Amino acid sequence: GLWAVVPAGGAGTRLWPLSRESYPKFLLDLTGSGRTLLQSTWDRLLPLAGQAQMMIVTGQAHVSGVAAQLPELETANVLAEPSPKESMAAIGLAAAVLLQRDPEAVLGSFAADHIISGRDAFESAVTEAVATAKAGYLVTIGIAPSHPSTGFGYIKLGEKLSVNEAPNARRVTEFKEKPDARTASAYLSTGDYRWNGGMFVVKAQVLLDLLKETVPDLHDGLTRIAAAWDSDARSTVMSEIWPTLPKIAIDHAVAEPASKVGKVAVIPATFGWDDVGDFASLADLIPAEEGEPRILGDPRLVVTESQAGGLIIPAAGRPIACLGVDDVVVVDTPDALLITTRARSQDVKKIVGRTKKVY
Ligand code: GDD
Ligand code: MG
Repeated sequence: GLWAVVPAGGAGTRLWPLSRESYPKFLLDLTGSGRTLLQSTWDRLLPLAGQAQMMIVTGQAHVSGVAAQLPELETANVLAEPSPKESMAAIGLAAAVLLQRDPEAVLGSFAADHIISGRDAFESAVTEAVATAKAGYLVTIGIAPSHPSTGFGYIKLGEKLSVNEAPNARRVTEFKEKPDARTASAYLSTGDYRWNGGMFVVKAQVLLDLLKETVPDLHDGLTRIAAAWDSDARSTVMSEIWPTLPKIAIDHAVAEPASKVGKVAVIPATFGWDDVGDFASLADLIPAEEGEPRILGDPRLVVTESQAGGLIIPAAGRPIACLGVDDVVVVDTPDALLITTRARSQDVKKIVGRTKKVY
């Protein structure tokens, strides 16, 4: 069966000061559901993989936070990274370790910080992806794009594949990670492109074979680490090799090059999907009347004019009042306060670099 692998890294800089380096986005409950993004990811994948085949790859610093939120996660299935090396090293490490346990292992990598609705549709897409992965493809899930975002990968839909038990599988004829705005608009106008949903289902062996072709140094390093994984030498080998590994995203490392040789497939998604990358997209998830401010937290703490719009997060527990400002974003936490506008949400990342002290 499927191994569900969740690479949980990155700080979610654009959601500062809600998310911090020490307390990243995936550990937050951004919807007020009572479950954090990581816990919701767990809930969604558990029926597909089963508890024994749920794996998390995260930074050393976040292992205890992850374990606290997921008491049922098996210790042997938590892979800790000494430093962030981006998604290819994280997912590649999981693949290399799984290959030691099972040469036929099929892994699905799912981001820890997405919001997905429509459980049946999600499960049937993943089931089709697994069938397609068994036929040797690197399988993605394609999301119908709503705007020419420059923050996603774009995949061009090719011909239908004839894979048993995957009637919706198509070939990907082009994979372009984070195109510029002009290219993204051109893609959108053709109607032939989908966003890459950040999920990859693939046989561990197929992923490592692809990586060996494209980034051999990373492949070799990961293979050496995995060979020592279940021995006393693990920490020595890890501390020797990990710092030398190249930093690269899986999209650039394998998805783009593999699409050029016809080895990438896509299952078009019919479920709801949101990346919640910034406060504008977070605001869109919170129900409110047209023009009304959206509030994440206790609404009794917030007073604004009724047509002010915007997003107010009173996470410090003190009241927030806004007057004469439209579409403002106010995020109040005990030790840091952000004030911006919805339109500038993407730029929070830039300013956070200058607030390192409180980050
Ligand atoms: N453990 C670990 N360590 N995980 C990491 C690291 C790392 O150093 N870096 C990234 N990740 C995890 C993230 O937590 C996330 O689950 C996944 O890898 C993807 O990384 P992101 O940094 O979130 O990538 P992105 O959002 O810029 O782009 C990816 O996702 C988009 C959809 O949200 C790409 O796959 C795009 O093509 C895709 O459209
Ligand atoms: Mg992301």
